[in-house]
Amino acid sequence: MSHHIIDVKNLKHTYADGTAALRDVSFRITHGESVAIIGANGAGKSTLLMHLNGYLAPTSGEIRIGDFPLTKSTLPEIRRTVGMVFQDPDDQLFMPTVHDDVAFGPFNLGLPGEEVEQRVNEALEQVGAAHLADKPPYHLSGGEKKRVAIATVLSMTPDILVMDEPTSGLDPYARRRLISLLRDFRHTKIFTSHDLDMVMDLCERSIVLHEGKVRADGPTMEIFRDEILLAECRLEKPLSMQGCPVCGRGRCRS
Ligand SMILES: Nc1ncnc2c1ncn2[C@@H]1O[C@H](COP(=O)(O)OP(=O)(O)OP(=O)(O)O)[C@@H](O)[C@H]1O
Ligand SMILES: [Mg+2]
Repeated sequence: MSHHIIDVKNLKHTYADGTAALRDVSFRITHGESVAIIGANGAGKSTLLMHLNGYLAPTSGEIRIGDFPLTKSTLPEIRRTVGMVFQDPDDQLFMPTVHDDVAFGPFNLGLPGEEVEQRVNEALEQVGAAHLADKPPYHLSGGEKKRVAIATVLSMTPDILVMDEPTSGLDPYARRRLISLLRDFRHTKIFTSHDLDMVMDLCERSIVLHEGKVRADGPTMEIFRDEILLAECRLEKPLSMQGCPVCGRGRCRS
């Protein structure tokens, strides 16, 4: 399964206004891993994710997805492999109806109409949005948009799922449903989140970004137990690891 490895080497990204958002980021993710990229606002998480399927090009450094370096000529193949859910669903939805947005990817893969319909129905069902199929995306609520944006990626059945803040804006029921969907997704998944309880639930490994650099990379539980590291990176323990605010007793599950 070497073709599903993600290899990021010495990645730097400086925006046009001179902001150095990524300053020498390196890591490797292998097939089947579930990895969280965590860090404070502005740490560089979205910038990093947008490099993984070529929405942003590195200022310097190299990205390999499986057997290919990410270049203009490998981009179409890499975009079939890597499904990306953006932080802002408005960046993802542009068709007149929800149905058409979710059908867009499979249709462009050249799949027969029947299979496109099947994928659309399944993906909308998975995120609890089947009833929204005929609506224009701009009439949806924030959480509904987020769920539909996720469906547009699920309908492509990607080998690698990359999600920027997948649970933000979701109500507790939709959040729980998404977590169980992600748990069942057997391929590689990488996501950013400020929802550290979800990170603890889903990811054995976390990469901590701080001011555009990898500050830590290792087992999630070790990272969450390192109070100095968390404080330095403006992170807080997941709620389920914090003591009860009333009786002071710990709720740590480990
Ligand atoms: N288009 C842009 N032009 C200039 N600077 C940008 C641009 N987009 C992001 N930045 C800056 O790059 C840095 C990293 O931003 P990024 O969006 O990657 O952070 P993040 O870790 O995803 O934060 P958040 O948790 O708020 O989503 C920030 O300082 C941000 O202001
Ligand atoms: Mg972000």
